[in-house]
Amino acid sequence: MQDIQHLGVYTSGGDAPGMNACLRAVVRAGLDNDLEVTGIRRGYEGMIDGDLVELDRRSVSNIMQSGGTVLKSARSEKFRTEEGRAKAAEQLRKNGIDALVAIGGDGTFRGASKLHQEHEFPVIGAPGTIDNDLFGTDATIGYDTALNTAIENIDRIRDTADAHNRLFLVEVMGRDAGFIALNCGIGGGAELILIPETITEMEMVKKRILSHMSAQRRSTIVVVAEGDELGGARGIEQALRDDSDFGDIDLRSTILGHTQRGGAPSASDRVLASRLGVGCVESLLDGHSDVMVGVVNGETKLTPLRNVYNRRKSIDYDLLKLTQILS
Ligand code: F6P
Repeated sequence: MQDIQHLGVYTSGGDAPGMNACLRAVVRAGLDNDLEVTGIRRGYEGMIDGDLVELDRRSVSNIMQSGGTVLKSARSEKFRTEEGRAKAAEQLRKNGIDALVAIGGDGTFRGASKLHQEHEFPVIGAPGTIDNDLFGTDATIGYDTALNTAIENIDRIRDTADAHNRLFLVEVMGRDAGFIALNCGIGGGAELILIPETITEMEMVKKRILSHMSAQRRSTIVVVAEGDELGGARGIEQALRDDSDFGDIDLRSTILGHTQRGGAPSASDRVLASRLGVGCVESLLDGHSDVMVGVVNGETKLTPLRNVYNRRKSIDYDLLKLTQILS
């Protein structure tokens, strides 16, 4: 058992809807176990600077339903250095913090794991990223909300695309992973879905678009993940405009971008975030460290942080095949 009395909690990397719900759960579970709880603002930047705020039950009232993160977030260059991490550890010790809950994605966990190894800090992670690209959990906090935001936007685009018989290239987030693209593509009835996990050839893209448009002369929607190797919506649009076969086709691109990161968390994200937040505190008190708490097949599961950031979570290739039948 680790003798923990004072918990530090932070959100880091890209924010995700549900981070606040997770923070609330960490604070309340900590207080329930008679721990002191301190929030660290601006992720690792705030850890280095000692930007701290004491958290009580009421300080996390009414935050469950809001997107973003009340603790703020950052991507810290300084924390990537040994010197930066030593400074952060010194700040934590100076302020009496003896264990950490990190809410974030793979970059956040890489940092947390280093802090654990270099300074023997008990740390535990809650998966928070809209990308859903973390090994060790079926879903990450924020993914469900982002997916629904993307689908809602595709539905809107479908209305206007149909009205004009247009081709739309819709770019969704996912620098390295196609979970959002694949699932919002299926849910939004996209004719073609392009993701970083598969090789995308421009000739195939052109062929599929032409065949779809000539068969129906109605709207065609191509969903492309930002990390797809053809350069997202802009890259594909340029290649199509340069091709005379596409001269008559009315084409528009929409990049959904950060709209997917904001907004009130879905019911499912709120529940997941609450469960994981409590799970983090309980697991720390049970003596676990350098692990992430996830949910796999409905069960809470701990995965070493090094596996979370070193291993790649696979997309469902059966779902990808489905798109060929459905489009
Ligand atoms: O990791 C989440 C994510 O939203 C990615 O999908 C996206 O590529 C990236 O963050 C964008 O990061 P930033 O907000 O720093 O530009």
